[in-house]
Amino acid sequence: MIDENGVPAERVLDEIRQLRVGDRPVHGGRLFAYVYDPGVAGLDALGAAAHAESAHVNGLDPTAFPSLLAMENWLVGAAGGLLGGGPGSTAPDVVGSVTSGGTESLILAVKAARDARPELTAPRIVVPASGHAAFAKAAHLLRVTLDTVPVDPVTLRPSVADMAAAIGPQTVLVACSAPSYAHGVVDPVAGIAQVAAAAGVRCHVDACFGGWTLPYLRRLGVPVPPFDFTVDGVTSISVDLHKYAYAPKGVSVLLHRDATLRSPQYFAYADWPGYTMINPVLASTRSGGPIAAAYATLRHLGDDGYLRLAATTRDAVGCLAAAVRDVDGLRLMAEPEATVVCFTSTDPALDLFVLVDELTARGWHTQPQLRYADLPASVHLTVTASVAPRVAEFGPDLAAAVAAARRAGPVELPADLVALAGSLSPEALTPELIGGLAAGLGLGAGPPDRMAVVNTLLDAAPAALRERLLVEFVGLLQRPTW
Ligand SMILES: Cc1ncc(COP(=O)(O)O)c(C=O)c1O
Repeated sequence: MIDENGVPAERVLDEIRQLRVGDRPVHGGRLFAYVYDPGVAGLDALGAAAHAESAHVNGLDPTAFPSLLAMENWLVGAAGGLLGGGPGSTAPDVVGSVTSGGTESLILAVKAARDARPELTAPRIVVPASGHAAFAKAAHLLRVTLDTVPVDPVTLRPSVADMAAAIGPQTVLVACSAPSYAHGVVDPVAGIAQVAAAAGVRCHVDACFGGWTLPYLRRLGVPVPPFDFTVDGVTSISVDLHKYAYAPKGVSVLLHRDATLRSPQYFAYADWPGYTMINPVLASTRSGGPIAAAYATLRHLGDDGYLRLAATTRDAVGCLAAAVRDVDGLRLMAEPEATVVCFTSTDPALDLFVLVDELTARGWHTQPQLRYADLPASVHLTVTASVAPRVAEFGPDLAAAVAAARRAGPVELPADLVALAGSLSPEALTPELIGGLAAGLGLGAGPPDRMAVVNTLLDAAPAALRERLLVEFVGLLQRPTW
């Protein structure tokens, strides 16, 4: 409850610091998801100072706050220039918007595509199965049907032919990833853009994750296939600045090849008694803080800085992948092409979810991925530049964690629970059943230290049941404190 007389500033800050003790470490190169850390001294302070300068500025009206408009236009120019657009390029008319994150950028790409075709009564989008879940969210929110194209279990990419075959008369958008989040592989963008263009359909490249690193990796000699506006038929690209541009959270850029393509992304409303509303993005009031922080970060690191960070990251990826290759019973899901290392277990006695817990116990925070269609469960590592100084410690710790996971053996769920997970329909989940399950899994007072049992249960369940369980479990955590 709110304090009657307020709390002194220093005490409140102390409280926050105390709360933060339980968080995963955002610095130190041992967290392989959620956080993108370049390990550059002073960058946090710069971002925080820039954020503070503009925190109360409102992006609702660019004419009232031209500072924000100037910074947004600069960010869009920087992203567009990096991704094959701008003066002198084959895409000189690229425009864009700054959004709050990758999910918002993808929702808006789908909205723009849908609203550009108002004559279609049942719009659809074609997305590889490896496409980010935010496409499914966009489809759900915008009432657009999601046509998922399977990926090859070896290359982890969709085939161009399958993508082409999925395009129909109601398709408003074809999407692909550069690279995919789960496995870090770049889809065949040129082929997909070509079949989309041939069908007269927009093509969005989701470069939210890797759009800021791929151009630098290419400059360093890594073979990166064409994926940006240099590819004919690519109509829009998303790139998150709060990922590999290393800006504080809350900033992504959605680019369109020209202003006509962008126009249906906007929402304008003048038919009410209040101010006329014109929103390029989902939010109406939005803080200038993240935009200013991103502006400061990009200006400070500069082209050279990003090239150096990409080289450091590439070397760290190589070392981590080598450490995985050295372990009997682990297999890389794909040879790393960008900044993801993803591996699976080839040994039934080596349970990946137990391994993830063992790595956590040794201070390495990796991300488990559940099995999907004919793809096995896997462990995902998003690698950032800050990992480089610690990378030599990973191999020995991985070997020790693997040995411990083998000693512990695979998680064995009670047979009746496995049967339940396989057969229960999401609708049959009662609050009592959820409560009992959560208590049995140790989720009562917050997330447990060891997640292997929870992950094993989710892994055994079909997607619809996983979704329902996750909603209910997280709902249990999100309760007010009084
Ligand atoms: C390829 C890709 N697209 C979209 C997103 C969604 O981004 P956000 O979490 O910023 O909404 C992510 C996030 O990891 C991503 O990797």
